[in-house]
Amino acid sequence: EKGGFDTFMRKEIHEQPAAVADTLRGRIDESGQIVLDEVRMSDQDFRDIDKVFIIACGTSYHAGLVTKYAIEHWTRIPCEVELASEFRYRDPVLDRSTLVVAISQSGETMDTLMAVRHAKDQKARVLSISNTVGSTIPRESDAVLYTRAGIEVAVASTKAFLTQLAACYLVGLHLAQVRGIKYADEVSAVLDELVAAPGKIAKVIEDLEPVRQMARDCASAQRVLFIGRHVGYPVALEGALKLKELAYLHAEGFAAGELKHGPISLIEEGTPVIAIVPSPRGRSLLHDKIISNIQEVKARGAKVIAVCEEGDRITKAHADLVITTPASPTLLAPLLTAVPLQEFAAELATALGRDIDQPRNLAKSVTVE
Ligand code: M6R
Repeated sequence: EKGGFDTFMRKEIHEQPAAVADTLRGRIDESGQIVLDEVRMSDQDFRDIDKVFIIACGTSYHAGLVTKYAIEHWTRIPCEVELASEFRYRDPVLDRSTLVVAISQSGETMDTLMAVRHAKDQKARVLSISNTVGSTIPRESDAVLYTRAGIEVAVASTKAFLTQLAACYLVGLHLAQVRGIKYADEVSAVLDELVAAPGKIAKVIEDLEPVRQMARDCASAQRVLFIGRHVGYPVALEGALKLKELAYLHAEGFAAGELKHGPISLIEEGTPVIAIVPSPRGRSLLHDKIISNIQEVKARGAKVIAVCEEGDRITKAHADLVITTPASPTLLAPLLTAVPLQEFAAELATALGRDIDQPRNLAKSVTVE
């Protein structure tokens, strides 16, 4: 049942190209229009939206954070992202023209469900993104877009996360298409790249051996830090969450710009720092900034692992290990850069003797508060 892999998590990491391809299948027509008929929201419904709120927990929240960058850039509609457990206990400003997107792999997370009810009480329109057909959150939502990751057994979310990103990109691009398109060329180019993503994810998966080796080398670390900017920031948060939950090791993700505001004091000789480097194409300013951040942590003794786009000028002179991912538009890069971090966490946790499919104290579906 593990398909030749030692654990479900490793099997699920390898299933990611197919899971993303399945999630896109049939949702982009031959003329390059996104077809989301199944969600039963008309184009006019999408045009009426003037604000988006994304609510989720854990890894699904990280997918939401990435989506904010994409939706605001492609559509210019304001988009907020909030942990469901916070959203449900406050008074968010919502109305009929607010689209609330609830992301939940299981469709049963109690806080997310309660947040959905809270949003519906205020007449917002709720679209859920879920991997579980017929689960409670989709049933209580106005509309649903299913990810097609297949059953995810390992507690740590991997393929569900990548398919959530794919589904969220579809929603963002669909919103852009139905609303008169300011970035028409960019949207169609991004769609082509989205369709190409599964092949690129497969390429990343083929090249994971150096990550595994580095993960074993880091197994005696006291803590591991992850830094990123722009969409690399939620990827850093996700990398840290994976490591915490699997290895029981202190791990934190930071916006790289925050380093000097506190976290840099955590760095000691040998502290592993994983930097998610934005593509030097397009966002060269951000790229320069992260190189400075890498130099700052390196000067304080950090062991730096840089995850960057192939062809990047970052070399062994900057980082102890350079992991490259295929070129991709910045907003889609998380589909690729998250993968080495999944493997890093799985391998480091395995080196520490952890049960990576069933970490202590955790359940696959959090149906209690
Ligand atoms: O089923 P959901 O997507 O609502 O679950 C949310 C979180 O409990 C989940 O993503 C959790 O953080 C994962 N175990 C992380 O790998």
